[in-house]
Amino acid sequence: MDLLYTPAEMRAWRRAHDGHSAGFAPTMGYLHEGHLTLARRAREENDLAVVSIFVNPTQFAPGEDFEKYPRDEERDLQLLRDAGVDAVYFPTPAVMYPPGYQTYVTVEEVTQPLEGSARPGHFRGVTTVVLKLFNAVEPDRAYFGRKDAQQLRVLRRMALDLDLGLEIVPCDIVREPDGLAMSSRNVYLSPQQRAAAPVVRRALLAAKARYDAGERDPAAIRAAAIDLIRAEPLAELEYVSLADDDSLEELAGPVARPALISTVVRFGHTRLLDNIELGLP
Ligand code: PAJ
Repeated sequence: MDLLYTPAEMRAWRRAHDGHSAGFAPTMGYLHEGHLTLARRAREENDLAVVSIFVNPTQFAPGEDFEKYPRDEERDLQLLRDAGVDAVYFPTPAVMYPPGYQTYVTVEEVTQPLEGSARPGHFRGVTTVVLKLFNAVEPDRAYFGRKDAQQLRVLRRMALDLDLGLEIVPCDIVREPDGLAMSSRNVYLSPQQRAAAPVVRRALLAAKARYDAGERDPAAIRAAAIDLIRAEPLAELEYVSLADDDSLEELAGPVARPALISTVVRFGHTRLLDNIELGLP
């Protein structure tokens, strides 16, 4: 497994493997089974698998957890070796954003609701860093988790709008046995919060059950989730959204198109994201 630290090194590695397809999974490290599933799919579906580890400062707002974001480079590298990854791209903030840096990518509409409104500037940081990573790795396919549903839609839009000519491949959410979506940030939870956290998944399943039983009123479907979360004393509800699956515009009328139910629930300072798709029968 090769380690590349700068865009120039990464590009040189890629050029040395010209003619081979590359699958790429960008991450912020502190890897878990969700990340490793992306890496393994990249491995299986391409000649080469590349993973990046970069805790991207531009997608954190002041006062968020950039400084204390969990890191364990040794363990991450061992896990990627075991997953059969060919190259790890490991740039530093100084390499990615040298003095004088002033160029950002903005995707307009689909970044506005949900996480875009809860975390102003977040998606501008995500799209900027992902485009920079794409430029260095030049992947044929890029693998992203459905857990970050809005991020996936924003990046799909960017790839289309900027003619990136690569395939954005969505990957299913990997969960703990009790249903909690895996996340690097789950380590922030106290034992009591961790024990209560599966309510997030249960709430989304309750909303989907209401939909599957024939309910089409967005408020009634959302209420099924909201009731469960409100009943958990350690949980603080930020939002439950029922939105158009593609644009993420909140549904005003009855559900008649594929839709996404997404939620953010806070346990102390930790924001847990989860979502579930409502296809149409
Ligand atoms: P990070 O949170 O490390 O996640 C990296 C990738 O792993 C994302 O595509 C995310 O959706 C996916 N992922 C995380 N948890 C998952 C789970 N439980 N099941 C399936 N996939 C999961 O997302 C980012 O980093 C950053 O924003 C990044 C895209 C790397 C840009 O900085």
